[in-house]
Amino acid sequence: MTTEVAVDSRLVLTDEQVREIAATYGTPVYVIDEGHLRRRVGAFKTAFEKSHPKTELTYASKANSTLAVLRIVYSEGCLIDVASEGELRAALAAGVPAKKTHLHGNAKTAQEIKAAFDLEVAQIVVDNFEEVDMIAATDGKCPDLMLRLAPGVDPKTNAKISTGQADTKFGFNIADGSAEQALLKALLLGLPVIGVHCHVGSQLVEPDAQIGGGQALAGFVREMKQKHGYVTQVINVGGGLAIRYTDDTEAIDPQKYCDELTAGIRKGLEGTGLDPVLVQEPGRWIIGESCVTIYSVNNVKTVPTKTGRRRYVSVDGGMSDNPRPALYGSPYPVRWVSGDGRGAKPDAVVRVAGKHCESDTLFDDKALPANVRKGDYLQVLCTGAYNAAMASNYNRYSRPVSVLIREDGTHTMVQRAETWEEQFAREIVPEDLS
Ligand SMILES: Cc1ncc(COP(=O)(O)O)c(C=O)c1O
Repeated sequence: MTTEVAVDSRLVLTDEQVREIAATYGTPVYVIDEGHLRRRVGAFKTAFEKSHPKTELTYASKANSTLAVLRIVYSEGCLIDVASEGELRAALAAGVPAKKTHLHGNAKTAQEIKAAFDLEVAQIVVDNFEEVDMIAATDGKCPDLMLRLAPGVDPKTNAKISTGQADTKFGFNIADGSAEQALLKALLLGLPVIGVHCHVGSQLVEPDAQIGGGQALAGFVREMKQKHGYVTQVINVGGGLAIRYTDDTEAIDPQKYCDELTAGIRKGLEGTGLDPVLVQEPGRWIIGESCVTIYSVNNVKTVPTKTGRRRYVSVDGGMSDNPRPALYGSPYPVRWVSGDGRGAKPDAVVRVAGKHCESDTLFDDKALPANVRKGDYLQVLCTGAYNAAMASNYNRYSRPVSVLIREDGTHTMVQRAETWEEQFAREIVPEDLS
């Protein structure tokens, strides 16, 4: 099996690969390409390191915490950002030492904080005043702390994944003085605050907002140095870079982006004597384009509409393996693969529907061959981020298998589908329930 056809930056499997993987593992199936993923991490890391002398790249594991993915990105030199105890335990299960993880979350529980202390994570990213109190009250050696700040920049992206503006649940607002108060409170309590963090939003096609976020953090730490003599050791500007969910989205050049980002921060720090380590924590940009999902076409229907007729192509997956179209109206690139090797042109416009008991429209107005039929496959690109991670058992479907295409071209299953027993194992029916 050839590992990859790189028609552009995104992983695209050949038709033969699609048929072989589908025949071997069934569908729907997530397919991750190891070499592609390693190259993505390498490209970002190299660009970031070239742009500034002191950097650290962290992978935001919420995007995809499949253990094999965590193992690969860690082995390529990434630290791991975890947003819950579950993600922390996934990192540990993948062989990542806690010392290489950062714990995030806007509503951490005392138990999560205790676990972070006991397991000895490298950093906790503190979100709110209650958390400062909880941390101060926790026994044991406190990990290094970062303060999450809301820099007040509005990212141009879907409102559901915008986080850097002032009206947000995340972090301490800089403009209203909360960030300064939080810093002083934590320092007064003797807590080891080593720096500041922000994450302004996700799927940012225009990276101006992250650059603005970095500059706002630089401005804040400059002021804290001047007013309080506080010396920041780390500035973390989060993740958020967009990937190519549509064919006409331009690929972001990591070098250009890192150069602009780090230059903006350096400018903001000029004359302060501050020389912090700069950190970024992309998730989607690292894993998103390294994975495709293969579906089988189950049926095709043409129905009357108010203005004409519509063709529905129903596949054997849907919002349980990819909730993003339902959540955010997210587009995806879709490629048709004939089940029997016949050729055809994309000469019809169809709606691709999922199998769930809702409209479950996966992809609207897609150009597919008019004679698409049961037994054909659809290959959906760019499904590495927030697909497996957000998958559910809606309608009691098992979450799909994940397959890894190795660098030598072989393939192997890295996550199997759930068994019926596993689905029911958590449930308790009271004996006397009639
Ligand atoms: C704190 C933080 N860092 C990093 C990320 C990763 O964002 P992305 O996957 O868009 O790079 C997120 C996403 O929600 C986040 O909340």
